[in-house]
Amino acid sequence: MKYKIEKNTVQETLIIPLYARKVCLELYPNLYRDETAVRLIDEIDYDFSEVEKNSRSPMQRFGSLEVAMRQNDLAFEVRDYLKSHPNAAVVNLGCGLDSTGRSCDNGSCKIYNLDFPDVIAVRNELLPAGEREENIPCDLNNTEWFRKIDSSNGAVFFASGVFYYFLTEQVKALVQQMADAFPGSVLVFDAANRTAVKMIAKTWLKSAKIQDVGAYFAVSDAPQEISAWDSRLQVTSRGYMLGYTDLKDPSVSGFFRFLARVGDGMMKMQIVKIRFGGKQ
Ligand SMILES: C[S@@+](CC[C@H](N)C(=O)[O-])C[C@H]1O[C@@H](n2cnc3c(N)ncnc32)[C@H](O)[C@@H]1O
Repeated sequence: MKYKIEKNTVQETLIIPLYARKVCLELYPNLYRDETAVRLIDEIDYDFSEVEKNSRSPMQRFGSLEVAMRQNDLAFEVRDYLKSHPNAAVVNLGCGLDSTGRSCDNGSCKIYNLDFPDVIAVRNELLPAGEREENIPCDLNNTEWFRKIDSSNGAVFFASGVFYYFLTEQVKALVQQMADAFPGSVLVFDAANRTAVKMIAKTWLKSAKIQDVGAYFAVSDAPQEISAWDSRLQVTSRGYMLGYTDLKDPSVSGFFRFLARVGDGMMKMQIVKIRFGGKQ
């Protein structure tokens, strides 16, 4: 039996990064490996023919490298937090079929994977929760899920490719509510400026049926713009493509390194890290 992902839904957007992670294993094996993605693609009932065809174009190959880098960057931040909080909650917001939480498992943290109920239903079949792990069906914009997270030993939250589907007001409200509920914890996520978000919307967000792109979350100078939301937020950011690595692997062409500089520089593609002021 295969597990179905419905077309033309926000949930369908999980297909793109999942496929990109599979492609990365072939294109950039020294930089990123996700054998789980390869297995999952075989087990999902979804017509991959268009994604497969597109994945060969140079822009999509670069897109796959972007996906690989953001997973590496976010995993770096999760592992870094776990060094000082080994028993913390590791919370994957809008997890899709991504297993970054597990790949950061230090043997004592608690892993939570959150997404819409239909995605979690598929996840429960394909990636059933293991020891110290829980898959939580929810709408991230309804804070009911907060009480399911045991943050007594700290918490690191990460969202990969998720906030592009949120209105700016929704990200702001979520961040402020998290600051109330999880003082001392950290939230990391990828973001980009308005120009980049418009480009992403044209190519990648079609299935999410986003029309008024202008209202959706985009940020240029994250430390300045996001700290202005609330005095409890300590905000830093690093380049998404080159902020954590120099990309000097033979599998990455000079042209792609140039595009990476354009992405981080002109498109403000970045990994934003928010530390919520308070204890822990
Ligand atoms: C582009 S996918 C990324 C999936 C995963 N993070 C990855 O990197 O493979 C966006 C995910 O966010 C989820 N999502 C978007 N808005 C959400 C919301 N309000 N509540 C819960 N999940 C949401 C979607 O269902 C989808 O799985």
